[in-house]
Amino acid sequence: MKAMTQDNLRSAYGGESQAHMRYRIWSDKANKDGFPTVARLFMATSDAEEVHAILHFKALKDEKGDFSVTSGGGFGLGTTSENLQGAINGETFEVNEMYPAYIAVAEMQNEKVALSAMKFAIEAEKVHAELYTKAKEAVDSGKDLEAKKIYICPVCGFISITGEEDNCPICKAKKELFKEY
Ligand SMILES: [Fe+2]
Ligand SMILES: [Fe+2]
Repeated sequence: MKAMTQDNLRSAYGGESQAHMRYRIWSDKANKDGFPTVARLFMATSDAEEVHAILHFKALKDEKGDFSVTSGGGFGLGTTSENLQGAINGETFEVNEMYPAYIAVAEMQNEKVALSAMKFAIEAEKVHAELYTKAKEAVDSGKDLEAKKIYICPVCGFISITGEEDNCPICKAKKELFKEY
């Protein structure tokens, strides 16, 4: 794999891995703040970021060795509203800046496996940003998010709070594969 796409993919792997942990911490805080459905959304999204980290790691399977990895990653443990804003900021950065830039490089370098991992990720992050925005609106008006079950697609990290889809709108996986929270 070309060096720049490798670097970008390792950085994305680092960013996704950190988001996976950060959302677990913020999930615990949401439970403590009395927002159990927001807590489930954080857990589901944590697992979706794990899906992305695994996709990136596997795309790099032939690039063995130790590397220094530099990634953006949000810090801070605030109120659930503040944590949701942190989550929205991170997802929006990935959607508007990070993945478009990395995808442009991978396209130029014709790195198909890297491209497919990053295209799944960017599409899922768009949905994550929308759902976190919805959750923040609820929390800021003193309510929990409304969702009976939250579903994630284990192939691409898509999340649904309605379960209306028969197939994943991003990767076309069957709904039977979705994991429930
Ligand atoms: Fe995300
Ligand atoms: Fe999917």
